[in-house]
This record gives sequence, C-alpha cells and structure tokens, in this order.
Amino acid sequence: MEIEEFSLERIQSLFENVVPLNLSDSGVHPMSINDLLDKDEIEALLQLELGYGWTNGEVSLRSTIASLYADRGPDDIIVTNGSSEANFLMVMSLLEPGDEIVVFTPNYLQIVGWARAIGVDVKTVRHDESAEWGADIEQLRETVSDKTRLITICNPNNPTGATLGNDAMSALVEIARNRDIYLHADEVYKGSELAGEEPPSVADLYHKAIATNGLSKAMALPGLRIGWLAGPAKEIYSAWQRKDYTSITTSTVSEFVAERVLQPELRQRVLRRSKSILRENLQLLIDWVAVNADTVSLIPPKAGGMAFVRYNRAINSTELAQRLRDELGVFILPGDVYGLDGYFRVGIGAPKSHLEPGLAKIGEFLASSEFLNLPLRQ
Ligand SMILES: Cc1ncc(COP(=O)(O)O)c(C=O)c1O
Repeated sequence: MEIEEFSLERIQSLFENVVPLNLSDSGVHPMSINDLLDKDEIEALLQLELGYGWTNGEVSLRSTIASLYADRGPDDIIVTNGSSEANFLMVMSLLEPGDEIVVFTPNYLQIVGWARAIGVDVKTVRHDESAEWGADIEQLRETVSDKTRLITICNPNNPTGATLGNDAMSALVEIARNRDIYLHADEVYKGSELAGEEPPSVADLYHKAIATNGLSKAMALPGLRIGWLAGPAKEIYSAWQRKDYTSITTSTVSEFVAERVLQPELRQRVLRRSKSILRENLQLLIDWVAVNADTVSLIPPKAGGMAFVRYNRAINSTELAQRLRDELGVFILPGDVYGLDGYFRVGIGAPKSHLEPGLAKIGEFLASSEFLNLPLRQ
C-alpha cells in the first residue's frame, strides 16, 4: 500500500525539537502533572498498577468522556492514543476501497491521507478566505453524491482557527441526515473558543455523527496521548475491533490523569488557562500584523492554537519557512503542507517568550529589501 507523505507532520517531526524558536505547534504550551494533580492524587498515581486496563478505555473514563456529550454513554466512546489514532480508527472502521467521502479543506490532512491510501475517493470543498474561512454549504450540496458515505470537517479548523456557526452546522447535519450518511468532525480544538460559550459537539446533533477529540490541543496535554471517538455504539465497537490490531490499549498512567483532568472543574480550569494564553498571544500577533500590514494579513482565528497568515510576495511558502528556520532559527509551517502556498501557520499557544522574539525576527525578514523587492504574488 502506498501512502502520500504526511508533510505537515513530517516537517514538524524533523525540526520542532531542534529549532531555537518553535512556532509550529497548533496546541497550547503543555501543563505538567504537578500543575494538575494534588498530593493525594500523585500518591495514588505512584501506587497505580501498570496493567493493560480496558482496551477500549477504562469504564469510568469512558463515562466521564460520555458526560461531555448530551446523550452518549460509555459504549458510545472509545479511548485512543491521541486524536490521531481516533481519526485512523474512524477511517479504518467506516470506509472501504471505492467509497467516496467529502472533506472540507484546508484541514489537518490525516484523514485524507489514510482514505486515499486505502482507495477511497476523496472529494473536497474549499473553505474560502474571502468568506472568512467559513463552510460553503452550497458547494457541499453540489459535491455530495449518492456514493458519498461520509462528510468530514475539522471544527474548529486547523489551520485557520475558524469555527462553524450554528446555521452552517445545522445545514451540515441536515444534508447528512437527508442522505443518511456519516458526519464526522475532528473537534480536538473544541473548548478553546476565544469568545462565547463552548458549542455542542456534532455528536450531540445527529445519531450518525462521530466526533474525534482528545487532550492534546485545547486541553494542552499532548504528552498524555489521550484521544477518543464519540459516536454510535455499533461504529464505536467496530473501531474497537480495529484497535485490537493497532495499539491494543492506551497507557494506564495517562488514563488515570485523563479521568481527573476531565472532571468538570479541572477541565474548565485548564481551558481557562488555554484561552488566556491564546487571547494574549493573538493580540500580540494582531499587533504584529498591523505593523507589517504592507506584507501580511490575517483573518483572526476564533479558536485553537494557531493562526494562518497570508503574505503578498512571490516566494514559495516552503522556501520562506526554510529560510526563516535556517537563517533566523524560527520555525513556522508553510501553507504548502495544506496545498495553500502564500500562507504560513504560526502557533499562538507558544510561550510568549518564544512568540515575541520569533515574530520580531520574521518581521525583520519581511521588512528586508530582499523580501520587499520580490514581485507581488499574483
Ligand atoms: C485537527 C487535528 N486532529 C488530530 C491531531 C492529532 O492530535 P493528537 O496529538 O491528539 O494525536 C492534530 C494534531 O495537530 C490536529 O490538528
């Protein structure tokens, strides 16, 4: 089986641990166990027997996760190694060679890569910058066909940080319901909405909806490698059967921490911290964009740990990212990894002590005569 390179992840794997100023992450700067657990809980963690546990996730953890949804029980949840395993199991359990899916892009391209690799026909609907990266429902209606088995969206979106409004979400649900097809949303950035209340999950709105989520992004705990799928029990069982062939189970230690972190009070404390970091850093970025308005522009993200910045000179985004990395030690993600040249992604969940000097260095490059003398992008 051939699989296209997942260049978004590959480029991060190669450079994120070796650059002085890493602005490539999409989550919030992580927390430690000390930040989260009290003395008694840490003592209990030290005494924990390191068994396999439940291979679909400890019952109590699945119940805790289920309580995040309006009408889901523990059998509607499977705990996975990160949201990436959740996405993988979703593809492997719902799709077969020859199926068709419709994907909103730009998007974290893991589902697209796996789907194509197993012979699924992938159709795309573009989020357009001129519509503030919203979901084009008309284009979706035109794209969905009798062969479509699943619609998938990343909401809040990676890389733009756009969120789907109530109307767009209702329209999406209606289209899926009328055709009786699956509706999947990767919601790993959910909970980091910078204004307003946390919206309901897609899994609360339609019985054939499946949500991916986890603790890596809004919850600032990627090192725990805890994610999950929430959806109909039959499909979740099918994902569990695939998990027997992949990782078998998640870490007992991580599940212990996850269950505490997902209790309502602590979850809210973590999300408040995330939003406070993101709001402060987003303002920093907006101010920086204003100073560099001759060369860059931005539709500010509404959620998530990243912003998608447009630049207006004719230099390829991979080349720009490479030069910033090699010459200035600042690591940003090129729009190329999303198939969108002319943009770069900046992590706004990075510590301010990285974001501030990183942006200053990028600003120097943008103001250099070498950059300014490049032709404008067409
Ligand atoms: C939308 C989205 N889904 C899933 C993942 C994978 O996350 P995890 O670390 O939980 O496996 C990422 C990582 O960047 C992401 O952006």
